[in-house]
Amino acid sequence: MRPFVFINAAMSADGKISTHLREQVRISGDRDFRRVDRLRCEADAIMVGVGTILSDDPSLTVKSEEFRKKRLDCGRDENPVRVVIDSLARTPPGADILKKGAGRRIIFVSGPAAAERVDALSTAGAEVVVAGEQGAPRVDLAAALRHLHDMGIRRLMVEGGATLNWSLIDLKLVDEIYVYIGSLILGGSMAPTLVDGAGFSNRDGALSLDLISVEQMDGGFVVKWRVL
Ligand SMILES: NC(=O)c1ccc[n+]([C@@H]2O[C@H](COP(=O)([O-])OP(=O)(O)OC[C@H]3O[C@@H](n4cnc5c(N)ncnc54)[C@H](OP(=O)(O)O)[C@@H]3O)[C@@H](O)[C@H]2O)c1
Repeated sequence: MRPFVFINAAMSADGKISTHLREQVRISGDRDFRRVDRLRCEADAIMVGVGTILSDDPSLTVKSEEFRKKRLDCGRDENPVRVVIDSLARTPPGADILKKGAGRRIIFVSGPAAAERVDALSTAGAEVVVAGEQGAPRVDLAAALRHLHDMGIRRLMVEGGATLNWSLIDLKLVDEIYVYIGSLILGGSMAPTLVDGAGFSNRDGALSLDLISVEQMDGGFVVKWRVL
């Protein structure tokens, strides 16, 4: 068993989620930030890859006081459980995800993660969990999702990045995809796109999507798809 999983991202008209410098870039606007904050408020957990932690240092907290109060009124923590996929425990112990906001943080690692890094993350307040076989080089995402389901997580929001999105899609672990498409071109063959990784080699193998909705927002638009 696994939670319902959806990816939410913002990309440029040419499909880039960041610049070729891999620095965070403002692609959407205030209405979209509110939409994303609502999605966070409604999620049980938010997941990112360690690449996103190292590039953007996000806190992944619910920003609006109204939404935090709404969660507290329902007997939940003010922030969803925040989750990092990080085989070698490269998340810095001083990262904002560990420093900012109340609530649980889980860092999934794989067997080869150095004990001193794992200890430093535990000291910084994270629950460090080995997901998968002891010798596996990378986090076993299906095992991580099973663990989250066992914890009671039913609705998981994935906020990137490009490599984690690919792995989840490749493993058929994604139910819906929401993308804000901004009216700008970022370009760059090295800039991350919505989904990087190895990619599918032909149309037959490609992931097929069913369009749910398209909504104009902040000069761009939000597209929602269901994965078939
Ligand atoms: N616009 C947006 O909505 C948005 C949102 C988020 C991020 N971004 C951008 O995306 C970029 C970061 O993306 P990224 O692709 O570099 O990193 P990422 O997807 O955030 O993280 C990828 C890393 O996760 C770790 N990992 C562990 N197990 C994995 C598995 N089974 N499958 C996949 N990854 C696994 C790997 O590092 P280890 O091998 O060390 O574990 C891998 O390098 C940044 O430029 C950021 O600004 C944009």
